[in-house]
Amino acid sequence: MNLNGVQMLEFPQHGDERGHLVVVEGMKDIPFEIKRMFYIYGSDANVVRGRHANRKSEFVMINVAGQSKVRVDDGRGNEAVFSINRPHTGLYLPKMIWKDMYDFSADSVLLVLSNEAYDPDEYIRDYDAFVKEVNADA
Ligand code: TYD
Repeated sequence: MNLNGVQMLEFPQHGDERGHLVVVEGMKDIPFEIKRMFYIYGSDANVVRGRHANRKSEFVMINVAGQSKVRVDDGRGNEAVFSINRPHTGLYLPKMIWKDMYDFSADSVLLVLSNEAYDPDEYIRDYDAFVKEVNADA
């Protein structure tokens, strides 16, 4: 399986009797400088979010509370499903990966870090167009 570097990352935890503190530093714990963060919560279990790929944005997805699943697809026939369910782990997605987020628990808070500011024009929202673009690059 080659999904262009899609992988689970583990972040340093600083737990003591006061509780837990998890650190995510750009270019240290994740392979980019952080330019944007957003978070998703209140999504029902039957909702599917995402359904897009990005020409420029890379992401790290962290379920800081609860859990969800992410299906990734590189447009070249490789697919994988990741469960994100621990506040000190994150799923790294390079650019040009199709993703669906689903199976959100009621308490899911999905935090997403990115290397790019939001630009709707770098989102590919049509799956067939994504596959075509990936394979044109090959
Ligand atoms: P959308 O891309 O549909 O969310 P998801 O990736 O979970 O499927 O985004 C939902 C709305 O939020 C849409 O109107 C665009 C807006 N949005 C921003 O303004 N900035 C952002 O960084 C993101 C990710 C979304």
